[in-house]
Amino acid sequence: MTVPDGVLAAIAEAVRPVCAYIYDLDAFSARIEATRAAFPARTRLMYAMKANPFPAIVARAARDCDGIEVASGGELSIALAMGARSIVFGGPGKTDEELAAAVAASERMPVTVNVESVHEARRLDRIARKAGRRITVALRVNRRAAVPDGTHRMTGAPTPFGIDVAELPAAVETVRGLKALDLDGWHLHAMSNNLDADAHADFVLGALRFARRAKARLGVEARTLNVGGGIGVDPTGARDFDLERFAARTRRLGRGGPLLVAEPGRYLVGEAGWYAAQVLDLKRNHGRTFAVLRGGTHHLRLPAAWGYSHPATVVPVEEWPYEWPRPEASGTVVDVTGELCTPRDVLSRDLSVERLRVGDVLVFGRVGAYGWSISHHDFLSHPHPEMRVVVDQSGDGTSSE
Ligand SMILES: Cc1ncc(COP(=O)(O)O)c(C=O)c1O
Repeated sequence: MTVPDGVLAAIAEAVRPVCAYIYDLDAFSARIEATRAAFPARTRLMYAMKANPFPAIVARAARDCDGIEVASGGELSIALAMGARSIVFGGPGKTDEELAAAVAASERMPVTVNVESVHEARRLDRIARKAGRRITVALRVNRRAAVPDGTHRMTGAPTPFGIDVAELPAAVETVRGLKALDLDGWHLHAMSNNLDADAHADFVLGALRFARRAKARLGVEARTLNVGGGIGVDPTGARDFDLERFAARTRRLGRGGPLLVAEPGRYLVGEAGWYAAQVLDLKRNHGRTFAVLRGGTHHLRLPAAWGYSHPATVVPVEEWPYEWPRPEASGTVVDVTGELCTPRDVLSRDLSVERLRVGDVLVFGRVGAYGWSISHHDFLSHPHPEMRVVVDQSGDGTSSE
């Protein structure tokens, strides 16, 4: 894996020992544009900020996407502060306070609440009525249809997400009677990390068929059809989602039907993030070589959570401040571990290295999504990584927080 110049420049400027997340905003923008081009023209492209709520990322998404998908009151606050132009509010457990915040936000910009249950619809209606407002809603449906393979299957199976399709007629009838709700369409987010472009296209086509059938059976003329996120990024880099293939099958869709809403997270930001950590120690133990990092799974939980080895690239650092020989491993494989007191703090096993020395930096790519945000930051109270932003592709502009 080649580490871009801007990321190398950010590492050179980072606090020692290096431990940093580095985000390339231009790479993020480029992926947003490519994704927008791959969906049918009548698509509203939202950014699912759960993938990465770092303010500079959300600000860039607010600029380049049509809006931000949020899943909590906290995310809503960040999205508003970062200049979101429209909001989709999802998530299975919204409190009254969060629903009230969504209703309040709807005074400033278009807001759609993806309603997860009839009880939630009733609460939202009550809150909107008290505020003297009418709020746009999409009903989240848990369909029977099988969904593409991915890591987190959310529909077509018993899950806490959405309204069981068998209960949809009754739910629609109830929602129609709730005068502060404007039923806009369907929300069908179904899976995460799907790498199969044909399966994803089939999913979108199936969603459109669902909307047509719902019109015929329930009399709901959906203005919008939210197909969620779920496009994958293989963190090992072994496979890529074939965006062109997806585009070829879906680009011409949606002319007459509902406006598509897509809310990807991982696919938009996954490849815009890098994690860099300096090697604090190198040792042989019971026949294996361990590289111990200033960092670990409390910053990047994904390899431990999903049980894979995250590839890493060695960035040599020439500084060596000590008067004894520098420990090094050459032409071998190492297990890359972190600073936590647990044998599970492993980012990579059997990483092949030509030469790795104490003080060199290991760089992990494809960690822009569900990296820092899903990790258990405060276990053992180590300092958090620096957050650095590459602001200029030429490599001469980085900033840190
Ligand atoms: C409702 C909803 N929309 C969008 C997403 C974003 O999914 P992804 O990051 O896989 O694109 C998620 C992820 O869980 C979600 O639950």
